[in-house]
Amino acid sequence: MESLHQALKIAFASEFAFYLKAHYFHWNVEGPNFKQLHDLFGLIYEEVYDSIDTFAENIRKVGAYTPGSFTRFSTLSGINDETEVLPPEAMLAELLQDSEKMSEMFRIVFKASEELGLHGLSDFLAGRQDAHDKHSWMLRSTLK
Ligand SMILES: [Fe+2]
Repeated sequence: MESLHQALKIAFASEFAFYLKAHYFHWNVEGPNFKQLHDLFGLIYEEVYDSIDTFAENIRKVGAYTPGSFTRFSTLSGINDETEVLPPEAMLAELLQDSEKMSEMFRIVFKASEELGLHGLSDFLAGRQDAHDKHSWMLRSTLK
């Protein structure tokens, strides 16, 4: 259970960092495709943000405390912070890479959850993996 707790906290901090980056790109993207990219990043950050509270409560349900500070997030997160304002293509490529990373993270945590028979949690984690696969598809298709 201890290793599942830690893996969940890492995935949660990473998901929050991913959400923040998508919102950051939504705010700062520029260029001739501004509207399309602003909307795409908007769609992604909203979907991820909407999952955050349920994610936090799922962590509480298995008996761990949910991290909720920038200090803890930056220690735990597997998603690197972006502090620069990147060109649009670099934003897409970076968020695609991060989304694929999130999908892989959820695939692994799902296995740990299933080993403990936590089917409700597994269901949530499978949903997050699937959501990131969808975000990755949209980002990849926009980059082509
Ligand atoms: Fe907005």
